[in-house]
Amino acid sequence: VSRTSDYPIRGDGATDIAAAIETGIVAGSLAAGARLPTVRDLATDLGVSPTTVANAYRSLRERGLLTANGRGGTSVTAMRPRSARRVAPPIPPHALDLARGNPDPQLLPDLRPALAAVADGLASTAGRSRKYGDGGNLPALVAALEPRLAADGLPIAPVTMVNGALDGVELALRTVVHPGDSVVVEDPGYCGLLDLLESLGLRAIPVATDDEGPLPDALTAALARRPVAAVLTPRAQNPTGAAWSSSRATELEAVLATQPQLLVIEDDPLAEVADEPLRDITAAGRDRWAYVRTLSKTLGPDLRVAALLADPTTNARVAALQQATTGWVSWLVQHLAAFLLDDADAERTRTEARRRYGERRTVFKEKLKEHGVGARGISGYNVWIPVSHEASTVQALLTYGWAVRAGEVFRLESPPGLRVTVAELPLEQAGLLAADVASAMAAPRRNISA
Ligand SMILES: Cc1ncc(COP(=O)(O)O)c(C=O)c1O
Repeated sequence: VSRTSDYPIRGDGATDIAAAIETGIVAGSLAAGARLPTVRDLATDLGVSPTTVANAYRSLRERGLLTANGRGGTSVTAMRPRSARRVAPPIPPHALDLARGNPDPQLLPDLRPALAAVADGLASTAGRSRKYGDGGNLPALVAALEPRLAADGLPIAPVTMVNGALDGVELALRTVVHPGDSVVVEDPGYCGLLDLLESLGLRAIPVATDDEGPLPDALTAALARRPVAAVLTPRAQNPTGAAWSSSRATELEAVLATQPQLLVIEDDPLAEVADEPLRDITAAGRDRWAYVRTLSKTLGPDLRVAALLADPTTNARVAALQQATTGWVSWLVQHLAAFLLDDADAERTRTEARRRYGERRTVFKEKLKEHGVGARGISGYNVWIPVSHEASTVQALLTYGWAVRAGEVFRLESPPGLRVTVAELPLEQAGLLAADVASAMAAPRRNISA
């Protein structure tokens, strides 16, 4: 047993020692900044080889829990297995929720006719559930999706239904990654993805972006850092609302072509309700690629269903992993999704959603411009507003009755900003919100410590 900061570290193998340290971090006994014994001291105390301790420290460094601080010292970072970035702070009852990234419920299809049709469809099993071994992809859902995917220029490849976009991204990543590996992400990028990488023990390599997507030079520099995968968003990027222009897509494709073995995952979050076409770069004959299309924003977040396309190797590994874990996506959900994709009313709702989201975003940005506030966002329903002080601006906006998301959860190295989800912003309030953003940005920072 070795004591530093009064915390006993035990163990006779690297895994036990790392677990003991992690337990201390989680319990708060090893606080941020606490220094750990040197490798040699701990090895002597525990009667193990220095290599064993070094391996334990390395695995925790790779997960971001420890940092080396020169002259062989090691200390605890501020990072601990933390509550997910994806979980937004509670919205006070008086505030309009422009923070949680939701689609407008009015622009989602009514689920009741779909539920009634699914209930009727259970006649063949006398109303009982399907059995183990009956699952897999629902052919009717795959048939509803295939022409849409083909119309977007995606490669012809087997479709695998997964439980939402992040499930698909996780399955695809797990076909290639090991803890400590690096994955290229957009910066700012989707907070749920950053959580996922952290939970898998992966490092994020940030790539700066503009309205047209990742900057090619930044991507080139990121590839030099030996990532095993890249997760990129072709349109309706979260949080910045970027969409790849065709010239940018061509440039990105060329940069990525230098590493054909790198797994490139395209996450297309809004798909049919995004007002830019898909400019896919996976079709260009990469060895390793995956494309994930969630139905969360087109049909409703609670359906938890997405389609995944991938090269044959990735696809086979994804199928094996899925069989080893969730097994399949509930056929009840797949039936609902198939009904809604084929339904004419639901299709009209999607067309309307695309138009409305584009209108709300465009009008809000124009109003911001009238107040001298610059903003990003050309696709989907998120607008990104660069600000100097996130916390104080978010707080001031809350006092005016608007809940927006501080950019911190989306950022690695990029400068501060706010994400405003305009999906439910009434057009007639866009001017008022813009004026309030301008004054919140100008307000002095009051009593805000972070
Ligand atoms: C880029 C991106 N990926 C994934 C998701 C999550 O999708 P799902 O609900 O299908 O897991 C979101 C949701 O906002 C997103 O914006």
